[in-house]
Amino acid sequence: MNPLLQLLTRHSTPAKALIDPAPDDEQLKQILKIAMSAPDHGRIQPYRFITIRDGARYELSEVFGKAVSKRDPNASDAYVKKQKDKPLRSPLIVVVVACLTESEKIPQIEQMLSAGAAAHNILLASNAMGFGSIWLTGDNAYDTTVFEALGLAANEKIIGFINLGTEKIKIPRQQEAEPDDKMFEWKSPANDRLK
Ligand SMILES: Cc1cc2nc3c(=O)[nH]c(=O)nc-3n(C[C@H](O)[C@H](O)[C@H](O)COP(=O)(O)O)c2cc1C
Repeated sequence: MNPLLQLLTRHSTPAKALIDPAPDDEQLKQILKIAMSAPDHGRIQPYRFITIRDGARYELSEVFGKAVSKRDPNASDAYVKKQKDKPLRSPLIVVVVACLTESEKIPQIEQMLSAGAAAHNILLASNAMGFGSIWLTGDNAYDTTVFEALGLAANEKIIGFINLGTEKIKIPRQQEAEPDDKMFEWKSPANDRLK
């Protein structure tokens, strides 16, 4: 596909519409290599990727169950089940973790942006390879029970649970964005001087 059209038609796929096969090891490595081509001030690679598939998804499901019960001991069984079902909807989850360091030169917001760009590249790469994907967070992305289970260090944050797989049904991009309302030319008398 034309690369511009590829970018224009990038779309998310609901997690429950993602089925096997997920990217295999080689494809996943390629996707993460593309993730790591994201812009990165100082080339510090302020991220890492935790991949979860097969039985490990059931383990994560238990962790989500424990996390929601701790957050809200009065949570209904239906709500706990909804949270526990999340890791089971699609065959592969890539947890994108931002690894933030103290730096005078590279503020942490820039490190977060690089991690976000890497996450976005996962979406672009997976779509380009014919897979579906969606970037999800929710309360479990900000929960210390989940951090502990996944082995996050104090300086690390989950920025997304990226669900990946094959689209059960082809989902077209909903609506093309129109940039007109988002574009503002900064006009200055200097513009005329250069004409
Ligand atoms: C940081 C981040 C977190 C997100 N978390 C969720 C989420 O928890 N649940 C959800 O339904 N969509 C979430 N989204 C939005 C979807 O990933 C997706 O972008 C949205 O459904 C629009 O679809 P599109 O990507 O096809 O335009 C998140 C997006 C970002 C960038």
